[in-house]
Amino acid sequence: MPSPTSPSGPAATHVVVVATGGTIAGVAARADDHVGYQAGQLGADALVAAVPALAGRGIEAETLAQLDSCDMDHRTWLALRERLQALLARPDVRGVVVTHGTDTLEETAYFVHRTLRADKPVVFTAAMRPATALSADGPQNLLDAVTLMQVPDARGVLVAFGGRVYAGADLRKVHGYRVDAFDAGDAGALGVLADGRLQRFRPWPETPLHRACESMPPADAWPIVDIVMSHAGARGELIDALVRAGARGLVIAGTGNGSVHRALVEAARRAEAAGVVVRRASRCQLGGVVGARPDSLPSAGMLTAPQARIELMLDLMAG
Ligand code: SIN
Repeated sequence: MPSPTSPSGPAATHVVVVATGGTIAGVAARADDHVGYQAGQLGADALVAAVPALAGRGIEAETLAQLDSCDMDHRTWLALRERLQALLARPDVRGVVVTHGTDTLEETAYFVHRTLRADKPVVFTAAMRPATALSADGPQNLLDAVTLMQVPDARGVLVAFGGRVYAGADLRKVHGYRVDAFDAGDAGALGVLADGRLQRFRPWPETPLHRACESMPPADAWPIVDIVMSHAGARGELIDALVRAGARGLVIAGTGNGSVHRALVEAARRAEAAGVVVRRASRCQLGGVVGARPDSLPSAGMLTAPQARIELMLDLMAG
């Protein structure tokens, strides 16, 4: 069972920064190198120490992982969820900041959103430029994330990035290099942080816990769910191979409003006949799949393909 979050009282002033790696902790040989750096080199202490405004604020810093987030894995997700549960249950903890790579931030934030009761704020943050860059964006993003903790009723899984606040569930990385790399699709940002003040446009996110989190199996027992992209000349053999390799679920990142190449539809029907659960999402950066076509594969709705993969994994775990 997810452990309940202890309510924030007047004593709940501590902020804990949990580092998991990413460009925010990245180190390059030269200050003008924004690409040829090693992600995940610095620990949480160094990230906090790089923000003078955080000095003397009693921030606890701990390093859970030092990953380039393209290598994020289910074991680390479970370890993070467990650590967050323990920290949020402490009456003296106001909330937790998680530093993460931008590349899979939308996946980790979605997983935590669906599996952690967050009556206090869990604020993810990241950076597009390494810590050694001339104008690194990480320190300001980290300061913004900590600033969110001061908002009295803040709660839920949030992302502070580039002066905006997003609900973790809505996050999408939409650019591979620009500092302004994220969007929240049609949902829009939850608010903006300007000069240390939050202007909020929408309510704090609710945490609709997935029933799978009542007894989550160890990572090596999670059902295999893969993503296949639909494109011109797509081949159904890819789906057949994934089914042979043990996939129990498949998300097809369809074109446009979730349309799927007929070769993949035929293979997906074969997969379904073999007991594999198939959902179709959209490969478009913004928007999802609107409406259902009776002759088509089940829709993942407004979820991105990586989010739909997580949701389907949780559904399969819950039976
Ligand atoms: C990563 O995702 O770990 C590297 C890229 C980034 O953080 O921007």
